[in-house]
Amino acid sequence: MRVLVTGGHGQLGRALLRTAPAGMEVVALGSSDCDVTDPATVRAIVARIEPELIVHCAAWTDVDGCERHPERAWRVNALGAQHVATACAEAGAALVYISTNYVFDGERDEPYHEFDRPNPLSVYGASKLAGEEVVRALCPRHAIVRTAMLYDAHSRNFVTTVLRLAREQPRLRMVADQYGNPTFVDDLARALWQLVAQPAYGMFHLVNQGAASWYDWAVAVLELLDLAVPVDPIPASEFRRAARPPRNGVLTSLAAPALGIIMPDWRDALARCLTSRRAPESS
Ligand SMILES: NC(=O)c1ccc[n+]([C@@H]2O[C@H](COP(=O)([O-])OP(=O)(O)OC[C@H]3O[C@@H](n4cnc5c(N)ncnc54)[C@H](OP(=O)(O)O)[C@@H]3O)[C@@H](O)[C@H]2O)c1
Repeated sequence: MRVLVTGGHGQLGRALLRTAPAGMEVVALGSSDCDVTDPATVRAIVARIEPELIVHCAAWTDVDGCERHPERAWRVNALGAQHVATACAEAGAALVYISTNYVFDGERDEPYHEFDRPNPLSVYGASKLAGEEVVRALCPRHAIVRTAMLYDAHSRNFVTTVLRLAREQPRLRMVADQYGNPTFVDDLARALWQLVAQPAYGMFHLVNQGAASWYDWAVAVLELLDLAVPVDPIPASEFRRAARPPRNGVLTSLAAPALGIIMPDWRDALARCLTSRRAPESS
């Protein structure tokens, strides 16, 4: 099967390349080769590559940047998805659209499943939700996959930021009243390959199991690496930022277990990621 991955140089795009099963021909294009804000480019690339499946990972993932520059967020995250979904439908290909836990407002106390009602608090969440809506409207064979708190061993993400801060500062302060599911992109990529092998369409939440606050996550990173840097828990109200993440951004899944897709616990995933940290990236 030939698969086109947009945002192919990002964390998830590279993980999809690393974990691709035998028989998958993966073409992973970065923004310089496939700018999703340009409909003619997207159409021409899809016509040239003739993929049977597109995994649309490209997004502007800087949540605070999206809040400060909403027009760019809408253009990349919503309009970009519209262009990809249109080209996909024209080519008769299936589409996997990667979305986010930020579509929820986090006001309820339980984890969110696939059929809970979204109500984004941020421009990032709203623009990604609009992407879901255009994909649903335009591309008949689609899977919308919501995930959360992505990281790998090398990119700029929360895990590598904690490690940098631990080198620079004597003690850290981390928000302890916002929760999500830290998710190792390699585990997500493997789950996506399982999903497309079925094939399965509709709405899916794919995250490593278990919930963690930013504080829990930072403490786990430092403990796993035996770094004795103290971490102080703080409320989100003491950490000023442009966007407001959901207080409860924890996802659970009804749809993935029904297909036999069970993702590992987040602490197990984090340990595996940190163990692989010294190896050069193989993508
Ligand atoms: N990161 C998270 O914690 C998280 C959580 C939930 C959901 N998600 C979703 O998961 C997906 C993958 O996230 P990720 O962590 O892999 O993000 P990432 O590392 O930031 O990668 C996203 C990629 O999108 C590309 N991109 C940006 N603007 C583009 C454009 N106009 N045209 C084409 N490509 C463009 C970027 O390429 P350049 O850098 O070359 O511009 C970047 O490599 C995204 O859809 C994101 O919304 C992420």
